[in-house]
Amino acid sequence: MADSDRERWDARHAAAVAAGAVAPAPPDALRGRTGLLPRGGRALDVACGRGTVAVWLAARGFDVDAVDVSPVALDAGRDLAAREGVTVRWLLHDLDTGLPEARPYDVVVCQRFRDPARYPELAARLAPGGLLVMSVLSEVGEGAGPFRAPAGELRAAFDGLDVLHHTERDGEASLVARAPVRTAAPSRGRR
Ligand SMILES: C[S@@+](CC[C@H](N)C(=O)[O-])C[C@H]1O[C@@H](n2cnc3c(N)ncnc32)[C@H](O)[C@@H]1O
Repeated sequence: MADSDRERWDARHAAAVAAGAVAPAPPDALRGRTGLLPRGGRALDVACGRGTVAVWLAARGFDVDAVDVSPVALDAGRDLAAREGVTVRWLLHDLDTGLPEARPYDVVVCQRFRDPARYPELAARLAPGGLLVMSVLSEVGEGAGPFRAPAGELRAAFDGLDVLHHTERDGEASLVARAPVRTAAPSRGRR
């Protein structure tokens, strides 16, 4: 990412912080369906912004890694985590270079950040049975735009996962999907 783009994100986050404190919140795509989450485990929040989702997950007992390119956003996340008494691993990282670490996660959230080049990595980071929670700007109901997903983008990108929820309307697409649970190959008994 160019320095000028990061500075723009920093300025947006600084303005939002100045406008007032935020509260932990579930990802939009999980509202009304938080029962889909596993009971605990490792979670990754990709392009976490000011950490509302990351802190919400940590408060539910997840071991959370949260990634963003903006130090201002991560500082706001740290403040929120401290207020809520939870721990999150905050990772300053430019996603243009890929996801930061190759570790499996039980939950991967990517909300309001769209980079189709990252889609295969997002799926690959899921542990067996892991839950992917995505939302991006969409052309559906809004018309074309440089940052908007064409109709069907999320479903096509994650067709190897078991789709539990998918919507495309009013300029937003969301998807909740589970990675297959690998089963052990049947052992060949001796005759
Ligand atoms: C629209 S905000 C969404 C934040 C958060 N996921 C949410 O739902 O509130 C997009 C976020 O992506 C981050 N971002 C944009 N480009 C990035 C990049 N190349 N690497 C890492 N983070 C990036 C921005 O700093 C910003 O926090």
